[in-house]
Amino acid sequence: ADITRFIAAMPKAEYHVHLEGTLEAEMKFALAARNGLKLPFADVAAMKRSYIYHDLPSFLAIYYDGMKVLLTEQDFYDLAYAYLAKAASQTVLYTEMFFDPQEHLKRGVPMAAVIGGITRARVDAERALGIQSQLILCFVRDSSAESAMAALDAALPLKQYLVGVGLDSDEKGNPPEKFAAHFAKARAAGLKVTAHCDVDQDDTLAHLRTAIVDLKVDRIDHGGNILQSPELVALAKQRNLYFTVCPTFSGTLRTSTPPVDVLRGMIDAGLNVTVSSDDPAYMGSEYLNTVLVRAQTRSALTRAELIGLERNAFNAAWLPANRKAAYL
Ligand code: ADE
Ligand code: ZN
Repeated sequence: ADITRFIAAMPKAEYHVHLEGTLEAEMKFALAARNGLKLPFADVAAMKRSYIYHDLPSFLAIYYDGMKVLLTEQDFYDLAYAYLAKAASQTVLYTEMFFDPQEHLKRGVPMAAVIGGITRARVDAERALGIQSQLILCFVRDSSAESAMAALDAALPLKQYLVGVGLDSDEKGNPPEKFAAHFAKARAAGLKVTAHCDVDQDDTLAHLRTAIVDLKVDRIDHGGNILQSPELVALAKQRNLYFTVCPTFSGTLRTSTPPVDVLRGMIDAGLNVTVSSDDPAYMGSEYLNTVLVRAQTRSALTRAELIGLERNAFNAAWLPANRKAAYL
């Protein structure tokens, strides 16, 4: 009760939210109707009942299928505006959002429609609601390196609307070094670099090492397996790396026993942890406040630790120092 109000009132920021993972069932039906598409579900409740998964690949299948209704610039505007309005209503002041353009290019949607719609929503949401945001282009790591490079090349003329690139989707057999050339090109264009190093995937410690030591990423998404390597923990601290941890996703997906409280472990290890919602539309429509309330219970977070998480979050922003200072 008290702590719920405390969390709701806290100024917040989030950095690990996939826009396509904020596509609510209700909006899928609205976009399908607008685009003349038929969905294989009788209604919203039936669609939501289909959101059953037990690991990353089974989650991703549902997630990629769901985003097929996104076809026009207006669709991307509506998607991004709905997320930003939801976030603003939860006292999220600033967010850096992922999107997966390769999936949309595959369906013939031009990059300009994807980035254009999202950008127009960002501008309108900031003007109407005060929430500031930036955009991170994710490479779909289980698609080919060529398709990722094609997406990057299509996006670079619009790079002023991007703050960075990331790496998401199925990690198994898709190590970060597959994208070394993409990261180098993105960096040369002035973009930041982050990568998912998910918990409980294969070779995640090796992936963390490559991402941190060789590719020198600017941030890590998830990254809980780092606790298995004191050497990498020390390096991450020395580099002042920030981790975007999504306790809901972990809590929903991970079946391994005994369950490890990754968030608690990372905080206690002294890492720069921030908390995000990941794919809220597929995780019981739980946005950042609910994620933090659950995390508080599960990891016994004190108020000081909650404040620390949000201080980290604002410190993690890929903003010029003067704009960042306004939040701190
Ligand atoms: N794409 C969307 N959500 C993801 C997640 N949580 N992990 C990896 N890829 C994703
Ligand atoms: Zn993610």
